[in-house]
Amino acid sequence: MSAPQDRPARPATLAIDIGGSGLKATVLDPNGQMLVERIRVATPRPITPPILVDALVELAKPLPEFDRVSVGFPGVVRNGVVRTAINLDPQTFPGFDLAVALESRFGKPVRVINDADMQGYGAIRGEGVELVITLGTGMGSALFCDGKLAPHLELAHHPFHKGRTYEHELGEQARRRFTRRKWNRRVKEAIEALRTLTNFDHMYIGGGNAKRLELELPADVTVVDNNAGVLGGIRLWESEK
Ligand code: BGC
Repeated sequence: MSAPQDRPARPATLAIDIGGSGLKATVLDPNGQMLVERIRVATPRPITPPILVDALVELAKPLPEFDRVSVGFPGVVRNGVVRTAINLDPQTFPGFDLAVALESRFGKPVRVINDADMQGYGAIRGEGVELVITLGTGMGSALFCDGKLAPHLELAHHPFHKGRTYEHELGEQARRRFTRRKWNRRVKEAIEALRTLTNFDHMYIGGGNAKRLELELPADVTVVDNNAGVLGGIRLWESEK
């Protein structure tokens, strides 16, 4: 017998996107549709693991009921444990088991992966080599082959222009320091450098600063909606451990 129409389909997934400037969340139905508009609060500063966990619990309070939690974290994460958090607090986060901490607060299963990897799941079509980059406080990247996530590469911190990294040249600090024209030129150079590196079939650009792009993108590069940061929350349970 099919479920009554008025009961939300299960499992419902609380999808959280942790960013350097904002914490965003929504609840997704099993098809990845948002049950409510994505909500956002500013990332508390200074931030430490307990402050982050408290802020996420607060953030989820007004949202509909959920059965599991997917989290995109802005750094390297292995098995739910944070390894790096350059744009949050590089001192207090490494070694913090964010998945376990959130499981004990939410009382629900939690999966945590890199924010760009989660965003990528929400953006890709699942065909060929697809590269996703995110332009926000930092610069995120995720690579997929036929929908399967490749091991996470921290392209952000790889040298790109005169010994400076992608994040130095494309991140929020650079965007503020450079003229619009110069920042856009750097994005264009990055697209071509990343094309040479990965031979992508398609590239997606997401993140809060994607809306600031003012350049003609090649036909195989598209800007994705900022909601992609949370929409990837479903695929995490299909493809990740
Ligand atoms: C981090 C990445 C992250 C990106 C976007 C970078 O500084 O090293 O892991 O995906 O920022 O948040």
